[in-house]
Amino acid sequence: MNKKIGILTAGGDSPGLNAAIRAVGKRLAAANCQLIGFRDGFEGIAFDRSVVLTGEMLSGILTIGGTILHTSRHKPNKMPLNGKLVDMSEAIIENYRKNRLSCLVCIGGGGTHKSALLLKKAGLNIVTIPKTIDNDLAMTDSSIGFDTALDVATGSIDSLHSTASSHKRIMLVEIMGHRTGWLALGSGIAGGADVILIPEFPYDLNKVAETLLQRSSEGKLFSIVPVAEGALSVSQAAEIAALEAQKAECEDKKKRVEYKQQIDKLTELRHDRIFEVAADLEKLTGLETRVTVLGHLQRGGKPSTVDRLRATVLGRACAEAILDDRFGVMVALRGLDTELVPLEKVAGKRREVTQDHPWVDCARSLGISFGD
Ligand code: F6P
Repeated sequence: MNKKIGILTAGGDSPGLNAAIRAVGKRLAAANCQLIGFRDGFEGIAFDRSVVLTGEMLSGILTIGGTILHTSRHKPNKMPLNGKLVDMSEAIIENYRKNRLSCLVCIGGGGTHKSALLLKKAGLNIVTIPKTIDNDLAMTDSSIGFDTALDVATGSIDSLHSTASSHKRIMLVEIMGHRTGWLALGSGIAGGADVILIPEFPYDLNKVAETLLQRSSEGKLFSIVPVAEGALSVSQAAEIAALEAQKAECEDKKKRVEYKQQIDKLTELRHDRIFEVAADLEKLTGLETRVTVLGHLQRGGKPSTVDRLRATVLGRACAEAILDDRFGVMVALRGLDTELVPLEKVAGKRREVTQDHPWVDCARSLGISFGD
């Protein structure tokens, strides 16, 4: 055996994780290396819960959603143990050495990349693979899971059209995406939405109502409005910005913590907010309004063809990086190819929708409103 490599999946699951694990394993096996999987994200390596990923275990998983290794959101330095959050970084380093690993592959999103950088700085050989349905990881064209989630969200918007039309209603549909609007924007355009609300462009509900009433006056009797779970109104966004500014200027440590708590409370993802938006819109327009929350359906099921392809290409490139001793990097998608990006350029950065993004330009030119 040439090398022994560990692999884990962390953060929220997404379709395509198994395809990536399989590709890493198959390529490494061809180079006579062994792959062992750690269970439940970083918990697995912290508490040394591993499984040898034999050819048999990797067989038949390409098309299966979720992750055969299971996952968790627990961070190396904040791991729950006996009712407390404990720093398990030392235990992770010890288990990495005890298992005689040449590298640890971490497949995950924003949180996972912060943890991966921490472990890189602690001296471990790390290679990461980008995964998130939110599509918000920096320095990669896209991430595993986004395409499947887009399909689910678009299919749901498609289905809402007939019932919206029958009842002449406004249909609000809450779409995941954490603090970004990629999923709502992409599925909104693909699903023929009329208004799309995303966190990057704070909305004015009066403008949204105006657009909906305008449609009504043109004889368009229903409207579809995807709302990203992190979408904020202009006044909410202004309140947050004011607190951020006060926090930045404040020299009192205690007061800064208070500002942070207030900001966290205001930016917390609240799934009841969309019902408030619906009630307000109903009042402003007099049009009957309904809410659909897609929730975890967007992360479930089989990976799409594109996600299987991306996961396989990324997994293979990850194995090549390991065989070439290229560590401390994320394997990014670049066009149809891949590229290695230092973890420092990814961790702690968020890729957001910008006003000049081609999708935004396209949406606006087709008359889709962002309520801004
Ligand atoms: O990051 C993926 C994601 O699905 C987000 O879109 C969403 O905000 C979050 O995870 C939900 O997390 P959980 O599954 O832990 O409730």
